[in-house]
Order: sequence, then structure tokens, then C-alpha cells
Amino acid sequence: MPFIEAPTTFYLGRKVDPNSKKLTEDVVYYDSRDLTTHAVVVGMTGSGKTGLCITMLEEAILDNIPAIVIDPKGDITNLLLNFPQLRPQDFQPWINDDDARRAGMDIPAYSADVAQRWRDGLGSWGIVPERVKWLQIAAQKSIFTPGSDAGLPVSILASLRYPREGWAGNEEAIREKVNGITTALLALAGINAQPVKDNEHVLVANIIENAWRQNQDLTLEDVITQVQTPPFEKLGVLPIDKFMSERKRFNLAMELNNIIASPSFRDSWLQGQSLDMQNLLYQENGRPRVSIFYTAHLNDAERMFINTLILENMLSWMRTLSGTTTLRAILYIDEMFGYFPPYPKNPPTKDPILRLLKQARAFGIGLILATQNPGDLDYKGLSNAGTWFIGRLQSDNDRARVMDGLREMASADDDMDLRAVSSMISDVAPRVFLMRNVHDEESPLLVHSRWAMSFLRGPLTRQQIGLLMRDQRQKLLQKLAEKYGQQHQTAWQQHAGMTSRYGNAPQGSPQNPPGLPPGMPPGLPSGNTPPPTLPGQPAPAFGAQSAPPPPPPSGGQTSIQPAAGRSLGNAPQGFNNSPSALSSSIAQYFVPPRINSQQAVGGWQQSGTMAMQTQGAQLVYQPMLLAQALVRYQDRKAGIYTARVFCYAVPDIRSAGLVHWQEHKTEPINAREVQSKPLPNTFFADVPGGLMDSRRLTALKREVTDMLYNTALLVVPFNPDLKVYGDPDAEFSEFQSQVQISAREQRDAEMDKLAEQYANQIQRLEADLNRRERQLAATKKELRDRKREELFTTGEALLSLWRGRTNYTLSRMSRATRYRRQTTADISGSHETLETLERQIAEKEQEFEGKLHEVSEKWAHIANNTQEHVINPFKKDIQLELFGVGWMPMWYTINNGQPVVIKAF
Ligand SMILES: Nc1ncnc2c1ncn2[C@@H]1O[C@H](COP(=O)(O)OP(=O)(O)O)[C@@H](O)[C@H]1O
Ligand SMILES: [Mg+2]
Repeated sequence: MPFIEAPTTFYLGRKVDPNSKKLTEDVVYYDSRDLTTHAVVVGMTGSGKTGLCITMLEEAILDNIPAIVIDPKGDITNLLLNFPQLRPQDFQPWINDDDARRAGMDIPAYSADVAQRWRDGLGSWGIVPERVKWLQIAAQKSIFTPGSDAGLPVSILASLRYPREGWAGNEEAIREKVNGITTALLALAGINAQPVKDNEHVLVANIIENAWRQNQDLTLEDVITQVQTPPFEKLGVLPIDKFMSERKRFNLAMELNNIIASPSFRDSWLQGQSLDMQNLLYQENGRPRVSIFYTAHLNDAERMFINTLILENMLSWMRTLSGTTTLRAILYIDEMFGYFPPYPKNPPTKDPILRLLKQARAFGIGLILATQNPGDLDYKGLSNAGTWFIGRLQSDNDRARVMDGLREMASADDDMDLRAVSSMISDVAPRVFLMRNVHDEESPLLVHSRWAMSFLRGPLTRQQIGLLMRDQRQKLLQKLAEKYGQQHQTAWQQHAGMTSRYGNAPQGSPQNPPGLPPGMPPGLPSGNTPPPTLPGQPAPAFGAQSAPPPPPPSGGQTSIQPAAGRSLGNAPQGFNNSPSALSSSIAQYFVPPRINSQQAVGGWQQSGTMAMQTQGAQLVYQPMLLAQALVRYQDRKAGIYTARVFCYAVPDIRSAGLVHWQEHKTEPINAREVQSKPLPNTFFADVPGGLMDSRRLTALKREVTDMLYNTALLVVPFNPDLKVYGDPDAEFSEFQSQVQISAREQRDAEMDKLAEQYANQIQRLEADLNRRERQLAATKKELRDRKREELFTTGEALLSLWRGRTNYTLSRMSRATRYRRQTTADISGSHETLETLERQIAEKEQEFEGKLHEVSEKWAHIANNTQEHVINPFKKDIQLELFGVGWMPMWYTINNGQPVVIKAF
């Protein structure tokens, strides 16, 4: 048994003897829960930091833990190179030409050589191909290339969305985020400004805060416009012009504008995956995801900018989580150079890293921070880190610095023998690290990292990244395209401030400029063509995304009035100049058009087959039965309180007969936008008989309420064993990750109990063994020595797992048993009993591993048992907001001589 595959436990490598510096057989495990107090990895280039960290990520993936990786050199992209079959042809496409040349081989020969090296390497560390296979499929691995379209594109726009968690109770945290984003934004424009001190910073931070306080999302364009004309008159006690002159503000606006004026910025920073942690850490089905941010191609300011945004978004996401004791997710920063420097340096990344180090533990988020130069790190902040890996260091100076840092830590913990540590790290080989873990009584110890399952070939080229991300990229672009379409439909609702009542606003995608048919994102896939604008509408100031959604028409003349105010003297056939008079007992609503004539015609063309040749379109009203209800759902047990709006517009209501409500379901209408009068220059279709009959309408009113009562059910995902209900207004992946965390916590608790139980049982067997051995009359001294070693090893092995310590030494134990067997063979008669006991101990261990596996399987099964929980509305919670004759807006046009009427709502 080379190592025990135990849930929650990372297989890191094997111990190195501190005296001989030789690799031993003792496996080093790491309890992943220890990572919630973060790990710091220090060592010179080539010391094996990245290899060790990739190893940890691999172990995390095998235990379904997702990760965000900041990858300034591009080495972590190697995590995608998993070849379970280890064939030369698997490696060949990823071989570095230079490496082959240096080795004096052609590519195929070198590929075979590398494949053999990996086969031998993994074999010698006891790793079987199935483990690599599982690593390959256990998580989705994505490479994001902000500012470039080589891999997956990133959009930074959502970062200026107002915080959905609300101000109350989050003031401090949100203000920190405002400061972070402001510093990053100014840095991107080449302005090095500090919070509170510098006027530029104060101004921009106030602009963001001002908008967010009013629950308004900002765009970069808004920020620039408001820098010139701030939406407030004073800053502190000073009038705005005194605080910062108009000229200075203009210059600042120009500098900010220069960033986004470049077409490359528009293409590469504004379209793509938003930095939404839920989506970056989980796939839609809730399975884990590893999101690698490759930033090797960026300049320092851009890198600082994107890193700050990632960190700030991580912090905001964290605040929405509930606490946990288990490891939920990893944030790994490879090469920390410049992101967390000692005082007095204060780049925008420093503060969020510090906050994460201090706060992330409670939420199960573990940071892994790697650096070559210990001088890059602020030790005060790092005294929060619970685990240190110290590899080969370049100079005595570096070593002295590391010792300084450890001294800070040691003050809280007097056990550590600093002199011993210093000598241990004096001259270690590559891939050997001094491991210091505050949760582990046995540390510090020397660990040699195990062989990485991923092919460590170094940074991938952009082409290779493109190849790896081809499918994911296509899917992402497709999803964004759909989202843009959806966004379009709800744009005016959002504009009217109706997001909450009408369900979740689509997350984090830029708004479509008006004039684009639904389902068509501007300029996607990235191209430079400006999005079409409506005739007569000014081009957006700073690019397509800034255009506001079309304002809802508020009576009178509107921007979507067709035919440029052309007055049509005569009503088209089938339409009248004025609406028919109806009984005053019947409510009437004039519904404003939501779709302009171009969109309507465009949509109609898409759905039809023939080309449309029209000359303008005329707005007409068609009277329909309009029924819109707000349905509230409450379920105390599931803790769910939410609402949905259902809207039906039924034409052709006869005096009798069935109404097929579901066929006439339509987008909800903003009840506050509905008018009591028609727009001018419009015509009106006849009112069908049933709609003039108030008795019939009363009956239908009852009918629609009954219909909703029976059919408007809310279905949420539900896990019966864990008693976790999905939030109906959140994504499914959120439910899944919640379930995973809950299952993991219970699994770990059960595993701990199991370890304790087995430690006790095995200790009993050992005591028995010990007693019988003592009964042996003639025992060789050698035998006694062996036994003592074994006793020590076995008990300790299980006890350490039980205590949650980070390493145990089962392999050493089995070796000790083997040695002893040779010795006892000399003693006749008594060795049989001893062998039986030995066998029993070995069986117990195997049983233990089997049980661990069972526990793991059981909770995996429980976590996957998703059922539907159905919430029926109460009748009292069905509230009709609109019921009566809805004058529904339609576009009337002539196509090839035939009249066509298209929905405008
Ligand atoms: N766990 C590992 N398994 C196999 N090879 C490794 C491992 N760790 C390091 N190496 C080898 O050592 C080289 C240098 O290690 P690396 O982790 O990149 O060092 P660092 O990040 O400290 O500069 C790698 O390119 C790889 O060939
Ligand atoms: Mg490295």
C-alpha cells in the first residue's frame, strides 16, 4: 500500500530524513482543512514551488475542491495536460521544441523520453493511471486570458455593478471594494493614487460610492462622464470646483478615456466571462471548476488591475457565503512578486490579500501564495498563514528573511526550534521543502513533493492555449450571445427599477444598445464593426456598451414612433381612428410598445422565410384580454419567500368557450408604465364580443386565478438528506455547491470518528501483541527493538489521522512489520500467534481504508440525490395587478402588398 487514499487528505509526497537528507518511505499527508489557514511557499526559481502547488491543486481536484489561480508566468496551464495513458503521442503536441533540441533528440524521440519519465515518475510515487484519469475528469479546467482572445475572454464590466448584498451592515467592506477598484482603475490609466490622500482617488471613489448607494450600476463611461461633471456639488465641505478644478477633472477624464478609447480594450476587456466567483468556481451542474487567469502577456498596470478585481470579487462573493469548517475553495497566486510587499509599499492588491488572509478561513477559502523572493512578502500579514513550505533559497540573505518571518510566527508558538529549522533549510535539494504547519505537532519536517500528475512542460504558447480552450470558448461565446438576447428583453424592466419583483436581473452582462434584435450581441465574436444604431439616435459616446436601454415611452411622442411623425390620414383596413367605447365597469390599459419597428420587423424576418420589403410601420392597438398576476410564494420550512409575475394577453375572446391561457402567456408588463390614453397617431382594431361582456370578464377573472392556483407552482431543487433547498432566484450551481459543502462537512466528521475508532481497535491488538511477546521466554534483543519501533509507528499512524494531524506513517509501519517477520522466523513455536495478530492488524488497516472509501461514497451519493421541492401558492397570494381590456401595441406594415401585424409588446 504506497499511500492511503483518504478523503480530505492530500498526498503531498514523502519525508526526507533531516540528517542524511535522504528520501524515506514515509508518506506525508496534509489535511486539506489545514489549508483554510493558508499556505505560503517560498523558494528560488527551480526549487519546485510550482510543482508542489500543482500537486496540491491536483489533490484538491480529486476531492472536488474548486480553485481560482492567478498565473503570471503561465506555468499553471500545465494543469490541463493530463494523460492517463501516458503514451508518447499524448505528450508530443505539448513538447517544447527547445527542450528537445537541448536534449539532442527529435520531437518524437523526445516525446517518448518524456512519456517514459512520467510513467516512471508516477510509478515510483505509487500513482496509478486511474488516478490521472480521475484528475482529468473531476473538474473543468479553464484558462482565462484577460485582455487577449487566446483563451477565454474576460469582461470587467460587472465589477462596477452595485453590490447586491446591500449597504446595510456591509459599509466597511464595500468601501474597501470601492477603494480597491478605484486604485486599480487609476493604476490602469497610469496614475498612482492612494486612497484618502490623493484627490483623483477621492473623486473617483466618491463617484462609485454615490452610484452604488443609489443601487445604480456604473459603466466605465459613466465614471468618465461623472469625473467631468460629478453628480454631487461638494466633496466634504469643499465645493467640487475648489476640491479639484474643472481643468484637472477634464485631464483626469481624458486619461481614463484613453484606456477605453482603444478598440483593443473594448474587444478584449469588455466582452467575455464576468468575474463572478460562483461561475468561475462551479460549472452549471455544480461540479467544481478550476479557473486559471493567465496574465503573462499583460503589462504591470494591467496585471495589477485584473488581480485587484479578482481579489475584490472573491471578497464580495465570500460575504454571501455561510461559514464552514471544511475547505471550500482555493485561491492560488503563483509568483507573488509585487502583490503583497512589505510596508510602506501599498499596491491595490495588498489590501484585499490581507483581508482574505484574515477573513477567508471562516468561509473555507484557502490561499496558497508562492514567491521566489521572501523580501516580496509582508511578514506581518503572513503571520496569518498556518502552513509554510520553504524550499531551496538563493542566498543567506533570503534565508535570514525567512527566519525573520518564522520568528514572528514562533512568538505565538514556542515549540518551534528556530535553530533546527535554520539548519534544516540550509541546503535542500530541488523539490524538497521544509514544511511548517501550526496544526501539526510533528512539524517542522522535510517533505519531497510527489511526482506531478500533470505534465510540467512550462508556460504554454498562446496557440496551445487557444487549442485547449477552443470548445469552452465556443460555448462561452454562445452563452453570452443568449444572455445578451435575454438582457435585451428585460432591459426596460431593469430601467424601470423592477428587477427584484421580476426575478433576478441577468448577471453581469453589458446592456445591448437599442436597435439590436434580441439574441445578437454587439460585435461578438470580437470584431471591430460598431454596432448598428437607430437612425436619428446619437452614437454612444464611448462604445457600444454604454448605450442605455430604450427609455420607456411616457405618453406623447416617443423615440420609437415610426414614420417620422407622418400622419396617416386614413386608418388601415380593419382599424378605426379611435378605440371603441366600453362599459365603464371594464378596466382598460394602453400598453406602451416595448419593441421598436426595426426590431419587430427583424424578429419577424428571422422567424419567417421570406425577405421583407416594407416602407415603415404604423403603430396600431389590438384589444386583448390582459391578465397579469403577481404570485407570492412562501415556504417557511424551505425558508423561501419570493414572487413571480405571470402575464397573459388573449386576443379573440368570444362570448363563451375555453381560453387556452398557456398559449397566450407573454412577457410581464410594467404595471406602472401602463397608460390610460393611447399614443397619438395610432389606430385601433375592433373589440371582440367577449371583451365587451362584463359578466364574461368577471367569470374569466375567477378562471385565471384558479388556473394560476393550480398551475403556477414554484419548483426548487432539494436535498432530502442534507435538508438543503435551492434559492429559486439563484443559479442551480449555487445549490449544488451548498450541498457539496454540507456533505463534505458531515463526511469529514464521520471520517474523523472512524479514524478514532480504528486507532483504538488497532491499539488494542497491539497491546495484545505486546503482551504475548513479553510472554515469549527467549527473545532476541533485536526483536524487541523492532517491535518497539513497530508499536510506535502503528499507533502514531492512526492517532495522527484522528487528531487531524497532517502526516501519518502507515507505510513505515508495514515496513517495520516486514523486518520483524524475518527476525521472528528464527524463534520456533511462538511466532504463529504473533503472525496472527500481525495479520489482524494488517486486516484492520485494510478494513479502515475500505470504510473510509465507503464513507466517501456514501456522502457523494447523498450529495447527488437532488429532488424537486414544489411550492404551491396560497390563493390569497395571487394578486391580479392588471385585468381588463389591454390595448396591445402592434406594428402594422405592408409586405409585398399584404398587410402584416407584428407584436410590439
Ligand atoms: N512535483 C513535481 N513532479 C515532477 N517534476 C517536478 C515537480 N516539481 C518540479 N518538477 C520539475 O522541476 C522543474 C522546476 O520546478 P518548478 O516547480 O517550476 O520550480 P519553481 O516554481 O520553484 O521555479 C519543473 O519544470 C519540473 O521539471
Ligand atoms: Mg514557478
